[in-house]
Order: sequence, then C-alpha cells, then structure tokens
Amino acid sequence: MSQEQWKHDVGEAALDYVEDDSVLGVGTGSTVNAFIDALAASGKRLEAAVSSSEATTRRLRELGIEVLDLNQVGGLDLYIDGADEFDPHRRLIKGGGGAHTREKIVAEASRRFVCIADESKRVGVLGRFPLPVEVIPMARSLVARKLVALGGQPEWREGFTTDNGNLVLDVHNLDLVDPVSMEQNINNLPGVVDCGLFARRPADVVLAGGPDGLNTL
Ligand code: A5P
Repeated sequence: MSQEQWKHDVGEAALDYVEDDSVLGVGTGSTVNAFIDALAASGKRLEAAVSSSEATTRRLRELGIEVLDLNQVGGLDLYIDGADEFDPHRRLIKGGGGAHTREKIVAEASRRFVCIADESKRVGVLGRFPLPVEVIPMARSLVARKLVALGGQPEWREGFTTDNGNLVLDVHNLDLVDPVSMEQNINNLPGVVDCGLFARRPADVVLAGGPDGLNTL
C-alpha cells in the first residue's frame, strides 16, 4: 500500500470525530486534503469551518463549505490537521507547507486536536524533519544567527512567503530532546512569529495510517 493510500484511509477515519452541524477547524496539507475529499464524499453537513491557510480556504469554498474567521466564532470543539513528524507523546513538528503559525492558533482555540498522519512520520525524538520557523522579513539574518547559537543550522526557504507575508527558516540538527523548552526559546526570539513545534500544546489524538492499517496514539 502506498503513502497516498495511507493518507486516504486516515482522512476517512478522521470523519468519525466530526459531528454534524459543527464548526470545524481545518488544517493544511496533502493529508488534510484527503480528509476534505472524504468529508465532501461522506455527505456530513458542517455548519462552517475555520481554516488554517488560504489554500485550505479555497478548497473548502470550492466544495461549498462556508469558511468563518476565527474571530467570528468562540472556541472550536475539534481541529483536524496533519503533521510532518509526531513523537510518542503526540508532540509534533509542523510547517512543511509554511502554515504552522495559523495552524497553531486554530489548534489553541480548539478543545480537541486530532492529528492525521502516516507511519513514515513517526519518530522517537523530534528533529529528523527540519524545524520551520516563521520570521518577520527584516529579522531573517538576526534570527538565523540566534538559531545557530541554539545549536541549529537554519536554511532560508528562498522564494517562499507565508500567508502572513513572512519568511521561513528551516532549521536542521536542533537538539529537540526537550521540545517544550525549545519551542519557548525559539518563540522568545525577537522577530520570530512562531516555530513549527507543537509541544506545549500537543495533539490529543494521532491517527497514523500505515502498512498494517490504522494506528491510534
Ligand atoms: C503545513 O504547514 C503543515 O503543517 C502540514 O500540516 C504538514 O506539513 C503535513 O502536510 P502533509 O499532510 O502534506 O504531509
């Protein structure tokens, strides 16, 4: 079975968590796209969605799903999103698509965060995937030097601008044995908007598709 099939299966499995007539938080990426396709095919009715990116907003609207600004709703019951890595404590690295800042905001606003992933993304300790850090453009070099001081090797994702008009540094080789502290340390750097560590607020459930079917963490 291919990774595409795993994404399809996990997208379908996430439907079990979705209540009819609810306002749903929706993440970004190819696994989420598989979930959105499954949602459209399922006939489940959403009242509306809160989206974590312009790409997801476009996809939802194409399917006739109303997209609300987070400021228009109170808290959300459920957020569904993918990840680039997950560890045994359901802590994540996200931001491969550069959407992690809005994703973290919607996750924070949600009572329950269900992460949909596949077994290729499971790690014992986070950090195989380079950590995306969104930075204000004028602070790019300053933040890069600070990230080197934290032990990483930042690489500017050239030619990429986030939905918020900012830049992304992908940081290799950080020691993420204590991801909660590293998330705080990076986010305290002036010029950093947010990093892709979801450790302070991990996922509540990880559904991972794989060769032996679906695993729940
Ligand atoms: C978007 O910026 C990311 O956080 C995605 O959630 C993550 O990259 C997972 O994407 P895929 O489902 O495409 O692997």
